[in-house]
Amino acid sequence: MSLELTAPAPEEPSVAADGTWLECIACGAQFAPFEDVRYTCDDCDGLLEVRYASPPTWDDFEGRGVWRYNAALPFEEGVSLPEGATPLHEVPRLEADVGVETLRVKHEGMNPTGSFKDRGMTVGVRVAKELGVGRLACASTGNTSAALAAYGARGGMETLVLLPAGKVAAGKIAQASLHDARILEVDGNFDSCLDIVQDLAARGEAYLLNSLNPFRLEGQKTIGLEILEEFHEDYGSYPDRIVLPVGNAGNTSALYKAFRELVQSGALDVDDVPKLTGVQAEGAAPMVEAIENGWDETRRWDDVETRATAIRIGNPVNAPKALPGIRETDGTAVAVSDEEITAAQRDLAAEGVGVEPASAASVAGLRKLRAEGVVDADEQVVCLTTGHLLKDPDAAFEAGDDPEPVPNDTEAVLEHLAE
Ligand code: F0G
Repeated sequence: MSLELTAPAPEEPSVAADGTWLECIACGAQFAPFEDVRYTCDDCDGLLEVRYASPPTWDDFEGRGVWRYNAALPFEEGVSLPEGATPLHEVPRLEADVGVETLRVKHEGMNPTGSFKDRGMTVGVRVAKELGVGRLACASTGNTSAALAAYGARGGMETLVLLPAGKVAAGKIAQASLHDARILEVDGNFDSCLDIVQDLAARGEAYLLNSLNPFRLEGQKTIGLEILEEFHEDYGSYPDRIVLPVGNAGNTSALYKAFRELVQSGALDVDDVPKLTGVQAEGAAPMVEAIENGWDETRRWDDVETRATAIRIGNPVNAPKALPGIRETDGTAVAVSDEEITAAQRDLAAEGVGVEPASAASVAGLRKLRAEGVVDADEQVVCLTTGHLLKDPDAAFEAGDDPEPVPNDTEAVLEHLAE
């Protein structure tokens, strides 16, 4: 199976361009990377992966941000704002409270548009330029649309986004709107939006930049590369576990791919690969269901609901890439309630780290797995927080305290404070 952690570095096929090609993870068919627009396999409709004849080693990386890792990417540079180089916060109180040896928080909300999606778009929009396509499009629970709108604008390209009506946080729509995306609100959930945008892409109406597009995941690999490099610099070892929120399972797939390529090049020992641990909201947990039941694929959930609207997804398209990632790294998946998510959002905020609800799912999941004894007290853990607090101001107000009205008078303010 091509997605094994110990799969050897692949042989370069004749269709490769500059040592890069596309390969189907289901049937192994290989395709030239940039000759035609293609999202899935021509032969079996399986998911495609970008493959490299020479996987990267640590010495290949220089510079800062996503493009520091261009040895692991299909291009030297992209359409950049720039992105990446996000903080790996220490959270000592939360670490002690959760009860693990080390807890660090990789805050992807610190990217230019406030989520990790920027890492995928800097590569994806670069590929769109290479292919010479006209309009860019995505379905989105919000963050992808904000990133696509901004990177499309940066690249001087037209963008179209399909959003589930009434289920996207205010900050994200505001971004897509100001960056001048054409916004279509669909009377359906994210999964229906993705069905439609895939149809539009298949009819040549737009270039699809959801994480079904294999090039987006290349950019998102750099989250894993940054975590490993920085963690090793600080502790001389790699984290035992990386805990992340899961929606379409793009990040889970991307991090796993980053680890696999490092193992292929000899840069990372198989025993040092962190356990990938996915967290979903209870109301939208098809990946957790598949892991718990030992299934090779997910069952589509038609009805999904959670306060963490970013991960309100019932049909994770990258499951065939992500399920092997969780299993091969000896990880797991867990579902958390909306209450647990909000509590974790407050916990992070108390350390000065402001995140949107979906992001806090990672910390909520870690807390739960630690309480259940699945995560040990001696583990070194990194939680991924995927989006910024300001993405969802309504959720922040709900989780936080209300402002207190006071008269326009110092004495009255003092009196109020003393109450
Ligand atoms: N966290 C946030 C803040 C997200 O916006 C998303 C996905 C995820 C986690 C899940 O990541 O799909 O790689 O498992 N948001 C997409 C969007 C679906 O449209 O913005 P995943």
